Order: sequence, then structure tokens, then C-alpha cells
Amino acid sequence: MKVLITGCAGFIGSHVSEYFLSQGHEVVGIDNFDPFYSKDKKKQNLAIALSSKKFTFIELDIVNTEAFAELPSCIDVVIHLAAKAGVRPSIMDPQAYTDTNIKGTLNILEWMKQNKISKMVFGSSSSVYGNNKKVPFAEDDIVDFPISPYAFTKKACELLNHTYHHLYGFDIINLRFFTVYGPRQRPDLAIRKFVELISTDKPVRLFGDGTTARDYTFIDDIRNGIYSSFNYVSSRKNVFEIINLGNSSPVKLNELINCISEALNKKPVIKYEPMQPGDVDITFANIKKAEKILNYSPATSLQEGIVKFINWLNNEGAGQ
Ligand SMILES: NC(=O)c1ccc[n+]([C@@H]2O[C@H](COP(=O)([O-])OP(=O)(O)OC[C@H]3O[C@@H](n4cnc5c(N)ncnc54)[C@H](O)[C@@H]3O)[C@@H](O)[C@H]2O)c1
Repeated sequence: MKVLITGCAGFIGSHVSEYFLSQGHEVVGIDNFDPFYSKDKKKQNLAIALSSKKFTFIELDIVNTEAFAELPSCIDVVIHLAAKAGVRPSIMDPQAYTDTNIKGTLNILEWMKQNKISKMVFGSSSSVYGNNKKVPFAEDDIVDFPISPYAFTKKACELLNHTYHHLYGFDIINLRFFTVYGPRQRPDLAIRKFVELISTDKPVRLFGDGTTARDYTFIDDIRNGIYSSFNYVSSRKNVFEIINLGNSSPVKLNELINCISEALNKKPVIKYEPMQPGDVDITFANIKKAEKILNYSPATSLQEGIVKFINWLNNEGAGQ
């Protein structure tokens, strides 16, 4: 099959691109090297995919529809991962987040409609659950109370995707990812920052009292869930689903620090600071639907995943 992967130079997009290529698919990858983090890092993310003859890279901004003329129209499925990611920066620049995430998604949907492409897997986020008290978070919980512009944009895109499903019969799966980590992880995310700081004996700023918890999910598990979703949408009609992809095992911030310290064999220096606006207390995925529909089964424990991440950072990731 021929797949369009948006955000292919990013953390998740680069892993997903490589996996589709390894499974024999043709991949057209698009990315605008958004300056949220360095272009060099993103170019390195792309290196393996670029070595495949079945991979075509197009540098393209999804907000700018004029550039869409460069895209091939014969695409079977779109894996839409391009976005401005991150909760805290979205509070500083809500305009850019709504432009890229909402307008960009609308542009992709319109381009699909014009080219008679009707199948999409979309990268949504656990942040849509906001500060919901009922855990674990299930797909049919009410998510009408976002607490950051980023979360709002992801929920808005899920709604937009439903509109195109309803009006034009698009087959779409909205996947809600829960804190993804692993090799190539975005530099703004906690695990990467903590490993870099603890390994160089620098103080770690912890927001809150260390009891906030996240459902950390290893990249290979997320990638497998995306690939199963691709198989699901490409082989069925009248699909619209929202599905959590998490580890279903929340870890407190203090436990995460201990896990990293043990893996590095270093004692951390911690500075506790107040919780940041937009941060949620806990994320915890109910993954029953993913297990049932996608045969999803996260296989990497936090301890294993942290060791894999540290090994990557010390080797290919060094200097990245
Ligand atoms: N990493 C996580 O924990 C996590 C959790 C939930 C959801 N997500 C979602 O998964 C997707 C991938 O996240 P990631 O962690 O790999 O982030 P990332 O920043 O590494 O990847 C996103 C990619 O999109 C590209 N991009 C941004 N704006 C663009 C534009 N206007 N046109 C074209 N490309 C553009 C960026 O350059 C980047 O390479 C995002 O949609 C994100 O919101 C990620």
C-alpha cells in the first residue's frame, strides 16, 4: 500500500515511517521541520527512512495549502501525526497551536476529499481527558473540559474527523496516545530531560510534590498500535473509532526518578517547584478497547524502556 505519513521527521513519525517501510509499504513522508526543536535532530530521525527506495520525503507545511500540489494523489491511507506537540508551550502560543493542529488537520482532510482518499489514522492525545477524576480513562468518558490549548486542539481535531466521517464516509481512527517515550524522544519531554540532568549530576526541577502520575508508553508499543489501526481502517468500511493507546500502568513522578536513577546508577538532586498550569494530576489509560479491536498489548515495562532509551542516548542519540 502507499501511505502518507505527516510529521514523519518527528519522534513518533520517524519510527512509524521506518516500520511501514519494513513491512513493504511505500511511504510518502511530509514534515516542515517545525522549529519546536532542532532541524538537525529531525534530519537524523529521518536517516534510516531516507535510505529506503520506497520512501519519498517532501518538506511541506500542512498549514499552507498551496504546497499540497506537490503531494501525490494515489495514497491509500493517511497517518496524520504532524502537530505542534506539548502542553506548556501551547499556553504561550495558542494561535500557532490552533493554526497547525486544527487548520492543518482541516487542510489534510480537504486534500483527502479532493483526491478521493478516505482512510486516516490520527494522533490524538490523552491530554483530552484533562483533570477527569475517574480512572482509568475510557474512550466514552466526557472530555469537554480541556485545560490547555493543546488539549483543546486535539479534541477539536477528533470532532473535525468525525464530521468528515459523517459527511463523506471517511474511515478514521483517532488514537489517544499516553506519554510516549523511547529512542528519539522529543527533547522537551520529562524522561529525556531527567536522564540528561541526572547523568550529568545537575539538579532536576520537579513540578508538584512528585505524586502526579503518567501512563508512560514505549514507542514500539505505540507504533504497533498505529500499525494495527492502519490494518483495521484499510480493511473495513464505515469506521469511526476513538481508541486509547497507553500502558495502563501509571507511574508517579518520584517513581520515575527512582527508576532512571537506578538505571544510571546515580543519585538525583531534586528541586521541588509548584505544579505548572495545564499539567494534569494523572493519566491512566483503559486499554480494553485497543486490546479488543486492535489486538493491542503493550509489552515494554518502564524499567526495560528506560534502559533502551538510555542505551540509545549513549550511542546514536549522543549529541542529538
Ligand atoms: N509524544 C507524546 O507523548 C505524544 C502524546 C500524545 C499525542 N502525541 C501526538 O503525536 C504526534 C507526534 O508527536 P511527537 O511526540 O512525535 O512530536 P514531534 O514534535 O517529534 O513530531 C511532530 C512532527 O510534526 C511536524 N510538524 C509540526 N508542524 C507541522 C506543519 N505545520 N507541517 C508539517 N509538519 C509539521 C514537526 O516538524 C515534527 O517533526 C503529534 O500529533 C502529537 O500531538 C504525542
